[in-house]
Amino acid sequence: MPAKASLGLTLTLLAIILIASPWASAGISRSSNEVKSDHAAKVEQETGRAGTGYLKCLSCHADYKNNHHPIGFVPSIVTNTTVFPLYDGKVQCLTCHTRNHRGGGQLLRGGPYSDRREICFRCHSKEEYSGIDPHIMMDDNGVIMKVNDRPVCLVCHEKMPNPKSDGTKDVSFRADVAFLCWRCHSPMVSPVFDQHFLVTLPAGMLNYMKKNARSLAVTIPLVPRNRITCSTCHNPHQKGIIQNGASSKGADSRDRLRLPVPDLCLVCHRLS
Ligand code: HEC
Ligand code: HEC
Ligand code: HEC
Ligand code: HEC
Ligand code: HEC
Ligand code: HEC
Ligand code: HEC
Repeated sequence: MPAKASLGLTLTLLAIILIASPWASAGISRSSNEVKSDHAAKVEQETGRAGTGYLKCLSCHADYKNNHHPIGFVPSIVTNTTVFPLYDGKVQCLTCHTRNHRGGGQLLRGGPYSDRREICFRCHSKEEYSGIDPHIMMDDNGVIMKVNDRPVCLVCHEKMPNPKSDGTKDVSFRADVAFLCWRCHSPMVSPVFDQHFLVTLPAGMLNYMKKNARSLAVTIPLVPRNRITCSTCHNPHQKGIIQNGASSKGADSRDRLRLPVPDLCLVCHRLS
């Protein structure tokens, strides 16, 4: 049956294209027919004008202004500007990424990298944070600890949070949560990590999760576009810092998990 055979072939080819294409790992939800072959060209066009166009990345990746590595600043640490170019002396998206949306490997400059954090240490020193345990936040008298003369909170937070009144939506960070953690931790070795990191909760699961979180009185924070990050599962705070009961769950627990396993997993997954 030639017609059937050629349909089979088309589907196989489509599957190969989808698997091979960077669009397949879509973090932005869009239907597959939107991801046309001319898309890469459009990115080139929108971001092409050297020196000025690079901020156009934000027209599609809007939440990366705050929820990623910091951009738009003059760096104080020496960077290898041949590998990582600056724009008007500043770090921008294209300092770390190439424009070519067919590049793969997260389009990272100077790669491919075998380990997620290899690129970090091309600019950051591994030792800089090595003496700091930011999960110890208070001394024995309940006074907030200092790191480099500033409250320990500012290792991660951009401005000092008010633990009495601030919730997930009120606090701001010096970088995306994962970038904060990666300064000191390699990603977990377990498969749980790759199955979840930056994965979007499907609508059905999101409602199920919210319902369970309410009844268990636990906060399960997500990053924009309902994606999972480190603090979705882990509570980095010391016991006694966060005043809101639901958000304080899991402080100082084993592996700093918001709920023990398997309860944590069952907030989102149904037993079948
Ligand atoms: C200092 C380096 C750096 C800068 C600056 C940077 N990125 Fe990234 N970006 C990375 C690294 C490293 C990864 C891979 C993270 C990982 O391993 O998951 C990444 C991953 C991504 C991803 C894919 C992962 C995801 O979140 O879905 C997107 C999209 C992205 N960057 C967009 C941007 C945009 C847009 C900008 C500018 C606003 C930007 N990046 C600025 C280093 C950078
Ligand atoms: C016309 C819209 C558009 C523009 C402009 C755009 N992107 Fe993307 N980009 C996408 C889409 C769609 C994806 C696939 C979904 C995803 O992974 O978020 C993507 C994926 C990525 C990825 C992940 C690739 C991977 O290996 O998984 C990176 C990194 C990225 N973009 C960086 C950039 C940077 C840097 C710029 C600016 C030079 C930029 N993008 C401009 C739409 C765009
Ligand atoms: C191209 C160089 C470069 C790369 C690559 C890079 N960074 Fe940065 N990063 C900087 C600069 C510069 C700053 C601002 C700090 C400064 O100027 O002292 C910064 C700031 C940060 C901050 C905000 C807190 C702080 O220390 O100011 C975090 C967190 C961070 N980087 C994490 C990472 C992680 C994790 C990676 C790898 C996934 C990474 N960075 C890769 C250059 C880089
Ligand atoms: C190791 C990084 C880190 C340090 C250090 C840190 N925080 Fe946080 N904080 C986070 C992350 C990640 C979140 C987001 C999780 C969330 O939304 O609850 C958060 C959220 C919060 C929230 C919102 C909680 C809620 O109700 O959702 C408050 C309040 C807060 N932090 C206060 C503090 C104070 C006060 C300190 C210092 C004593 C501090 N944090 C130190 C990473 C940190
Ligand atoms: C400045 C460095 C630093 C940063 C930033 C940091 N941590 Fe930690 N973390 C530590 C140290 C030090 C320990 C305790 C030492 C150890 O692992 O034995 C620790 C312990 C942990 C543990 C418990 C591991 C265990 O074996 O008991 C978890 C989970 C954890 N951190 C998660 C996070 C998350 C999530 C973030 C980001 C929100 C983060 N950390 C940010 C330094 C850091
Ligand atoms: C879906 C939930 C989930 C997410 C997302 C997650 N973790 Fe974990 N993490 C766990 C569980 C469960 C454990 C307990 C040990 C195990 O299963 O590997 C753990 C263990 C850890 C440990 C201690 C043991 C080890 O393997 O080193 C660290 C440190 C850690 N995670 C850091 C992180 C960081 C950093 C991120 C984000 C970049 C992250 N985790 C994202 C669930 C998660
Ligand atoms: C915040 C919600 C959330 C939590 C908490 C969570 N998961 Fe998931 N998990 C997801 C999402 C979303 C996926 C992506 C696949 C999907 O849509 O079901 C996933 C996928 C998986 C997969 C892969 C399934 C497949 O078909 O590929 C396994 C296995 C898994 N989770 C186990 C766990 C375990 C074990 C835990 C507890 C340590 C856990 N999950 C915690 C949301 C969550």
